[in-house]
Amino acid sequence: MASAVHGTVAASLSNTLDLNASETILAFELQAWSAAQLTAIEQALSRWVASSIDAPAPAGLIDAMRYAVLDGGKRLRPLLAMAACEAVNGQPQAALRAGCAIELIHAYSLVHDDMPCMDNDVLRRGKPTVHVQFGEAQALLAGDALQAMAFELLTPDDGSIDAATQARLCRLLARAAGCRGMAGGQAIDLASVGLPLDSAQLHEMHRLKTGAVLQASVMMGAACGSAPPAALQALSDYGAAIGLAFQVVDDILDVTADAATLGKTAGKDAAHDKPTFVSLLGLTSSIDYARQLLGQALSSLQASGLQNTQALEALADRLVNRQH
Ligand code: IPE
Ligand code: IPE
Ligand code: MG
Ligand code: MG
Ligand code: MG
Repeated sequence: MASAVHGTVAASLSNTLDLNASETILAFELQAWSAAQLTAIEQALSRWVASSIDAPAPAGLIDAMRYAVLDGGKRLRPLLAMAACEAVNGQPQAALRAGCAIELIHAYSLVHDDMPCMDNDVLRRGKPTVHVQFGEAQALLAGDALQAMAFELLTPDDGSIDAATQARLCRLLARAAGCRGMAGGQAIDLASVGLPLDSAQLHEMHRLKTGAVLQASVMMGAACGSAPPAALQALSDYGAAIGLAFQVVDDILDVTADAATLGKTAGKDAAHDKPTFVSLLGLTSSIDYARQLLGQALSSLQASGLQNTQALEALADRLVNRQH
């Protein structure tokens, strides 16, 4: 079934878009665009996770942090931030910082998500999980320290990001990561094991645990420039649609893909009796729903009135049609 998820763009859009939009996506070279951005992201993460602290970090902790962040991950959140910045003609250097800050929050959320008190996973990004490699206490602390470092990154004292933008970026990220975002969604996830959530409850859980940080990636990129309120609302709608689609596809891949492809354990949602879109709707309807959400995301971009949205369009397509 994984191949059914990995369809062509045109095939996956159902009837929600006109042909011009899909032709635009196909014409845009996501690989070439991403390659340059990814080089900058990897270099920045490696530099910042090594040295953003003035004094050396205690032995072991920085190693666990670097292990959690570097050498793996699709970097979809930083790419979304940079693409959203491009759509509003914002400052790419600010978006690079914002994207890396989000990636640190994401990496921390994965470290904690994998711990025995949560999903108890041993494989992440093709490697043993952080607690398996470094012990539970060090994994807990590495997650804590990555979260703090994210906000340090957003508040440089070299004048490169003005104070109002720094405050806005911090607020967006704090909101998305906290009790009304990722942490809140994770709490619902843990409390929902073995429960048959209804559609509204499942939407709420996914919107919070995964959607909020993805939507914030878009809005933080947009905060590095300026756009009319209607365009910002359209970007927010785009972010909400891809945020939800992302976790629907994560639920699908947990069933359809293998561990070698995913770099993490497959089949664990059913094994842990977690409510997912696959358990609610079944596989085929979940795939249809992810495609519908892709259509909604692309329609929002079309309605935004923004010109430079090709990278956002292509990333939405990649996110839904991914194989891992
Ligand atoms: C996995 O996220 C965890 C979820 C939020 C579902 P990604 O699939 O983006 O993981 P990496 O960063 O590429 O490893
Ligand atoms: C995790 O969701 C979402 C986070 C906030 C990290 P999952 O538990 O489904 O993520 P995976 O499948 O372990 O990557
Ligand atoms: Mg989980
Ligand atoms: Mg998990
Ligand atoms: Mg999952």
